[in-house]
Amino acid sequence: MSSWPHPRMRGRVAYGGDYNPEQWTPDVWREDIELMRSAGVTMVTIGLWNWAEVEPREGVYDFSRLDEVVGLLHEAGIAIDLGTPTASPPSWFFATYPHARVVTRDGVPLGFGSRGMASPSSPDYRRAAIGIADALARRYGDHPAVVLWHVHNEYGAPVGEDYSEHAVREFRRWLQERYGSLEALNHAWGTAFWGQRYDDWEHLGLPGPTPSAPNPGQQLDFRRFTDHQLRACYLAERDAIRAHAAQPITTNFMAANCPTTDLWAWAREVDVVSNDHYLTAAEVEPEVGLALAADLTRSVAGGAPWLLMEHSTSGVNWQPRNVAKRPGEMRRNSLAHVARGSDAVLFFQWRASRVGAEKFHSAMLPHGGTDTRGWREVVELGREVGALGQVAGSRVHADVAILWDTESFWAQDLPWRPSVDLDPHERIRTYHERLWRDGLTVDLAHPGADLSGYRLVLAPASYLLTRDHAANLTRYVETGGTLLVGCFSAVVNENDAVHEGGFLDPLAEVLGVRVHEHLPLREGESIEIDLAGQPVPGTIWQEDVALEGATAVGSYRDGYAPGGPAITRHRHGAGIGWYVSACPDVAGLATVLAGVYRDAGLTTAEHPGVEIVTRVGAESSFMFVINHTDREVRVPIDGNPLLGTAPVDGVLPVAPGDVAVVHHTQAAVVAATT
Ligand code: GAL
Repeated sequence: MSSWPHPRMRGRVAYGGDYNPEQWTPDVWREDIELMRSAGVTMVTIGLWNWAEVEPREGVYDFSRLDEVVGLLHEAGIAIDLGTPTASPPSWFFATYPHARVVTRDGVPLGFGSRGMASPSSPDYRRAAIGIADALARRYGDHPAVVLWHVHNEYGAPVGEDYSEHAVREFRRWLQERYGSLEALNHAWGTAFWGQRYDDWEHLGLPGPTPSAPNPGQQLDFRRFTDHQLRACYLAERDAIRAHAAQPITTNFMAANCPTTDLWAWAREVDVVSNDHYLTAAEVEPEVGLALAADLTRSVAGGAPWLLMEHSTSGVNWQPRNVAKRPGEMRRNSLAHVARGSDAVLFFQWRASRVGAEKFHSAMLPHGGTDTRGWREVVELGREVGALGQVAGSRVHADVAILWDTESFWAQDLPWRPSVDLDPHERIRTYHERLWRDGLTVDLAHPGADLSGYRLVLAPASYLLTRDHAANLTRYVETGGTLLVGCFSAVVNENDAVHEGGFLDPLAEVLGVRVHEHLPLREGESIEIDLAGQPVPGTIWQEDVALEGATAVGSYRDGYAPGGPAITRHRHGAGIGWYVSACPDVAGLATVLAGVYRDAGLTTAEHPGVEIVTRVGAESSFMFVINHTDREVRVPIDGNPLLGTAPVDGVLPVAPGDVAVVHHTQAAVVAATT
């Protein structure tokens, strides 16, 4: 298997972005390439939206314009990440195969004239996608400028679920493979409930509109199926490319932000993980969400360096209020991704589009041209990224893991849960934010992963937890780990059936508690926990917790279970299991986690708003200091700054909003204080 980095990109952090030459004339291409060179661009992604150009009629190819662009980039020494354009089939495709369109849950076929793939289950789409991937691979599979293949664009967006006739047929086939017999399917889905028993495979359909709540097992399997079909499309194109090309192959993920794909499974199928990330402009400190997305991307990559395939130089165009980035913010964002393991800083997109739906999206080369603050920042960042080549290949070490299981989110997101306010993503974001503020670097981990390297594992939202995965967590604690489990966890098995023995049963031994009843709060209602005399407020949720060996460290002062255990601690084997049956906010978690950190032997950073992350290489380490605050911080260092001002007497000043990267020749993780 080919792997990243391609030899041409070794010892480099790639810099560049999506480039869409099909929107421009050849004289603009020449200007673009000149400007790319002056901005330090080393790699661009092309070919994601040009299907109509390279295959103007079915089976008829015209590579003339693409050949010319590839040739110009090659001459200029700019590496190419070559896309396949299958996220936007041409008009001839939909005219010839109208039944290949994606159909919504309400039965509406989605039309041409926007973007978005055809039905992932349509054999015509599959054949056409393989056809164009094959043709591209034959033509450019040994081109020296092509260092990476980029299959499709963001599988699962803008739509992932498909309710077409093809989906019905393939869903039945997929279920037959999964269950083997209708008896097994009826059992897994619990069809005895509400008289939903199936006695013929042909009677099975998709969980479309029904008079009341559809069967939860069916819905959960439909989500698994959707993910499977999207991945099957990727695999088909990947294998078609692989037949003629040796370069590594990727597809761009939307970590933390794509409800239809299970990235743990996808990451196994790419040669290098790549990710797109856009700030949520409505957030006052969007860098916190950025850190979660980057940590998740690194984690699904198994800790290996990954590629930031897309982010924005400034505002996007698809949020309600597309707030522009402040001076210096793009740089902090880009370098935060690098700090958290990316070996690329790539943007959507190179040149701002004058036409189409994205003309108000920022770009490396803005509409205003080169005499703009945006362009100057892009050029300066290109110079800095160019100076970070030594960082490429190094890895981030984390002492803490937060469990992330897409199947569990799929299950918890189904309708008819105890409270619409309890959102697993919100819970994970809240815990992650607490750790970010405490200066702790965090991996995300699958509940079945080897957790032995972590001092602390948090499971803020593990609604669906299989007995096998619970046993994995139990072993982790038995062998000395500290585990914290959040409310509404270990409730159901892989079929969304409540565990025998009741809520939390699979973790009862390790946590020393059981949950007798869920006690959701009214909208806006809050409760208070007494944690060794300190008040910890909570909203949304409480539980009736029964102690079975654990100690109640915190109790409810009020609500529906006054005096009842709220936060518990239990020694099990050589480790400790904590249970938090409520929803504290970020501030409240500071109180809750103090004792947990003590158990895990973790210390927190003292400088809120200053992100310090270290990447460790074979012989060196690189400490990134990102100052998000409006005051200078002073960091004692014993290395040399790759970026940042010169240290004075071993102390590196980092100005408000500034970023420093310090190179240490020892591979030790440096404990930085400011
Ligand atoms: C991404 C997409 C790009 C572009 C970008 C705008 O999701 O992959 O093609 O649309 O959003 O922010």
